[in-house]
Amino acid sequence: MSKKIFSGVQPTGNLHLGNYIGAIKNFVELQNQKNNECVFCVVDLHAITVKQNPKILKNNIRETTAAFLASGIDPKKSIIFNQSLVSAHSEGAWILGCVARMGWLNRMTQFKEKAGKDKEKASVGLYIYPVLMAADILLYDATHVPVGEDQKQHLELSRDIAQKFNLDYEAPNFLKVPEPLIQKKFSRIMSLKDGTKKMSKSDPSDLSRINMTDTKDQIVNKIKKAKTDPDLLPTTDKDFQKRPELENLLGIYSSMKSQSLLESINEFSGKNFSDLKEKLTEIIVENITPISNEINKLQKDSKFIDDVLYEGAQKAEEIATKKVKEIKKIIGF
Ligand code: AMP
Ligand code: TRP
Repeated sequence: MSKKIFSGVQPTGNLHLGNYIGAIKNFVELQNQKNNECVFCVVDLHAITVKQNPKILKNNIRETTAAFLASGIDPKKSIIFNQSLVSAHSEGAWILGCVARMGWLNRMTQFKEKAGKDKEKASVGLYIYPVLMAADILLYDATHVPVGEDQKQHLELSRDIAQKFNLDYEAPNFLKVPEPLIQKKFSRIMSLKDGTKKMSKSDPSDLSRINMTDTKDQIVNKIKKAKTDPDLLPTTDKDFQKRPELENLLGIYSSMKSQSLLESINEFSGKNFSDLKEKLTEIIVENITPISNEINKLQKDSKFIDDVLYEGAQKAEEIATKKVKEIKKIIGF
């Protein structure tokens, strides 16, 4: 069955192994499956929900695009663009904001985490962030949305918004209710310094993550310093709950090697962490260094990247603007 795929990544710098394993690697696989129509968006309007430096933002938009391309997303097969080039996203977000309910948004855990203790000082944009995400998805009639586990709640909100719109305006099936595509395995890559915390762009410690632009030496050093525990590697996954760092490192290894966790457990059972770390370093370097080199190369040609985004935006605009027109008609404008 052909799928319409939409996904987005924020251009907030420090793209890391979690983004790669949880999202971008799947984008490439989906793109390469027959009959899928894919749209991959650099969601710069989402990025400004927290304060950004204009020069750095521009650079990050290009870097995220370069990471898409270097990972294997092909502008001949998929639409790649940045959100702010297609104003239909903002327009759609306003309209859908009038469909979404305060009560729904109040439940969003990402807002609570990002806004922290001082909610009064968070931007209104941060609060309605999931409504813009719903517009992204619904304007393209996306059937499937590949994301990491952390975005599941936002996707459920998109589904609720689509259903309420269709019901309120008596337009059955007009907005397509999207399915999340969340990998069962390795959908949450954790910090190298604390196996209970998500690997994140915003962690102040660079040692907590492998960045997509890290050099071989940086990768070697970060894995060497990654937190472990004093025990040997186990023969089963029985104690994983008590050993989150172990589970994470074995998970990263399995994902990079495209094998099951059980196969990795068998490969290392009874050995030391140092054996796992050695093999893990090798496989991360093997997978990430070519991408990192390509990102650096692409970033030197900002005109090429800007052209890819512009051409992608032309195609995206055609789809999104048509949908907004239909929405307006249904609403009575
Ligand atoms: P963001 O960087 O927050 O825009 O996330 C881009 C994509 O990467 C989303 O699909 C996230 O769910 C995914 N992602 C971010 N961090 C992780 C992580 N630590 N593990 C797995 N997936 C992640
Ligand atoms: N909110 C997503 C994240 O932080 C990014 C995003 C924006 C997105 N719009 C989207 C993901 C639409 C999937 C579909 O990771």
